[in-house]
Amino acid sequence: MSTTTHPFSDELKARIKSFLTRYETKRSSILPILHAIQDEKDWISEDDVALLESEFDLSAVDVREVLTFYSMYRTSPPEPWRLEICNSISCWLMGSKKTLEAAERRIQEAKSRGEKLPFSCREVECLGLCGKGPVGFVNKERHENVTPERALQLMEEYSQKPLPAAAVRCAELQTGEGSASENPHSN
Ligand code: FES
Repeated sequence: MSTTTHPFSDELKARIKSFLTRYETKRSSILPILHAIQDEKDWISEDDVALLESEFDLSAVDVREVLTFYSMYRTSPPEPWRLEICNSISCWLMGSKKTLEAAERRIQEAKSRGEKLPFSCREVECLGLCGKGPVGFVNKERHENVTPERALQLMEEYSQKPLPAAAVRCAELQTGEGSASENPHSN
């Protein structure tokens, strides 16, 4: 698990405190707290776990246990844009495997050419939209009928957009200088 050195914002601290009072046990508040951290910082570092223990008296062992159990939490700095394609049965029957292969091939090609393509891609389980597959998300935006061609198109379209706010903050934490222009992923 990677580390970073950045305190929680006041807003994030307030959210954490509200979760701690809302649930019966501290342990049961860990899931929403980790979501809140990921919303703000784009990923969760070992330093964040330590902060939860020192500032909010949450057991680091318990936090790590939750963090490593669920694949939705990111424990290293992610790419700004993340394509997630459902590969469960209905989407699979509609060609999701080919979509995933096309997206992964495009990412590998970009890497081998030294081209900036701020994307990662991964397979996910059923998203509950089984009639419209292959279904995918780019960050939090849903897309239906994501054929291989559509996946490549989406990657091009999103690569041209301004980076999402969480990715900008993540880049600021990495550079330690608070400047989005220093984002290694920006074009
Ligand atoms: S099988 Fe893909 S959304 Fe349900």
